[in-house]
Amino acid sequence: MGGEQPVNFSAQSAWSSPTVVVVTGTDTGVGKTWATASLARAARAAGRRVVAIKPFETGCSSQRAAQEDGVVLAEASGQQAPAEALVRLREPVAPPEAAEREGVVLDYNGVVRELRALVIGSDLALIEGAGGVLSPLTWNQTVIDLARDLGARVLVVAQDRLGTISHTVSALKLLSWHDVRATGVVLIPPEHPDASTGSNARAITGLTSAPVHLAVRSRDPAVGAQSLKEVLGWFGL
Ligand SMILES: Nc1ncnc2c1ncn2[C@@H]1O[C@H](COP(=O)(O)OP(=O)(O)O)[C@@H](O)[C@H]1O
Ligand SMILES: [Mg+2]
Repeated sequence: MGGEQPVNFSAQSAWSSPTVVVVTGTDTGVGKTWATASLARAARAAGRRVVAIKPFETGCSSQRAAQEDGVVLAEASGQQAPAEALVRLREPVAPPEAAEREGVVLDYNGVVRELRALVIGSDLALIEGAGGVLSPLTWNQTVIDLARDLGARVLVVAQDRLGTISHTVSALKLLSWHDVRATGVVLIPPEHPDASTGSNARAITGLTSAPVHLAVRSRDPAVGAQSLKEVLGWFGL
């Protein structure tokens, strides 16, 4: 699996090396896009050059739609390109399954090369994975390989609800067993809080030592950006 070398930015001496962060999560629908977009806005507000990219997106129609992750991220970062996910597939299933159904051959190494080129010139490059940590990007690669191949740091997004302790600790341990250490966890307050909401962060930090940031729940992009400002500090930004 993987096999690509970490990003080598030595040729771009005019630019400082971007901090590349792969955003993954415990599941689909947990808030990865919200957190990535909010972080992109926080970085912009702090005067950083930021690019936010969805490499593989499924469930896309033939026309680009405003609610697609890749489009939401481009809007949040203000980047010209890419304006949408690098690989857009129709069926709302895992990328390699969607690709097979469409008769598309996924070029993982090509996507990694494209990502390496796209992050040049940014201070912060945010890359949103698909699904959870072991969701396949291709039948041979997961987000763990992508993080390794990009020399990226990893942020885990999860919901602050009952069940999240096991899901989040599993994701963190899995990353660490593959020598990819997550920088931290962003916990998103669920639409319907339960008795565990508010107490999970302490449990996750206690069990793993990973820093956990409690986000707010808001549809206001400015509030989201403010809420994730502290996470920028985890990346020295
Ligand atoms: N902190 C939040 N506040 C308000 N809505 C949120 C928040 N996080 C996620 N959502 C909403 O929950 C849904 C799923 O979030 P999303 O970021 O798309 O998840 P993922 O990228 O993990 O699939 C979206 O409708 C999103 O707007
Ligand atoms: Mg998403």
